[in-house]
Amino acid sequence: MTKKYHIIIFGCQMNISDAERIASVLESKKYKKTDNLSEANLVVVVACSVRKSAVDRVYGLVEKIKKLKKRPQTILTGCVLAKDKIKFEKSFDKVLDIKDWEKNYLKIKPKYSSKKLAYVPIMTGCNNFCSYCVVPYTRGREISRSAKDIICEVKNLVKNNYNEIWLLGQNVNSYKDEKINFPKLLKLVNDVPGYFKLNFTTSHPKDFSDELIETMTKCPKLSMDLNLPIQSGDDEILKKMNRPYTVAQYKNLVKKIRQAIPNIRLSTDIIVGFPGETKKQFNNTVKVLKEIKYGVAFINKYSPREGTTAAKLEDNVPWEEKKRREKILIDLVNKKK
Ligand code: 5AD
Ligand code: SF4
Repeated sequence: MTKKYHIIIFGCQMNISDAERIASVLESKKYKKTDNLSEANLVVVVACSVRKSAVDRVYGLVEKIKKLKKRPQTILTGCVLAKDKIKFEKSFDKVLDIKDWEKNYLKIKPKYSSKKLAYVPIMTGCNNFCSYCVVPYTRGREISRSAKDIICEVKNLVKNNYNEIWLLGQNVNSYKDEKINFPKLLKLVNDVPGYFKLNFTTSHPKDFSDELIETMTKCPKLSMDLNLPIQSGDDEILKKMNRPYTVAQYKNLVKKIRQAIPNIRLSTDIIVGFPGETKKQFNNTVKVLKEIKYGVAFINKYSPREGTTAAKLEDNVPWEEKKRREKILIDLVNKKK
């Protein structure tokens, strides 16, 4: 009998990329993929603890699995907080850290889920400790992958007709492999012969250097979409978020990028209802959104995550008010289209 696995992914592109490596490990153990949950012998959930809503959806899934006629074996993995892992230990047969799948999991040759688009992680982890964010706790400190491995993977992808490549990392701008920093890596990838579109995500504004802007102008394969999370348009809230830039510095960066690359389309991430965010502070975010004119903005309602420093602050903006602020920003971005 063939063993069948089903993967369910929550969260960001990094989790999709992790799932591609997990799939490869499972296929080496003679598992075959199925898109049908009810016929799986093994269900792997790649979860995300970044927002509470994604964790809640895992609970919903557990109930669905319990109701299946033939109960599969279940594994929970991904970007999961230690506290959430303990909670889920009762509901899953196994709870695995992403690093438990293979010692050096970035060395695993992934089973790409698309035939055209490929995610290539260049670094994992994060050293920034934004006060609301679980990533430094779930994924640990920054580790950069060797430039040689990255280029080799990209060359192979291009040879196999992949035409869209995404370089992934929680903060790609702090990539470092000896003398190769992110701008140098970007240029090396751009210069791989063949036709493909190149993207990268995510960038921390504090690390977005002039060298990177200049390099971007020399990379003709680079997509014109750039995600540059601002998180808030208020200096005091940014400070409380441990985001070490001011709104003026951020706006200056946007100005420099747009001057150098006039066709760039910017997107951003924003959190509404951070502890203590007043209406006036929220209106500063509204103001920035109107000024910068992003193509897309991902609006998140703040949810406290255990273990982060912001979780010690009182979560005092009511949920209804968070929803109201979220809607104002969503309407604002959609109106411009
Ligand atoms: N609450 C709400 N949104 C969050 N994000 C990260 N942590 C939280 C949290 N605790 C958002 C940020 C980040 C995106 C991936 O998720 O905007 O950029
Ligand atoms: Fe989280 Fe901040 Fe690191 Fe992004 S830069 S992953 S928001 S700690």
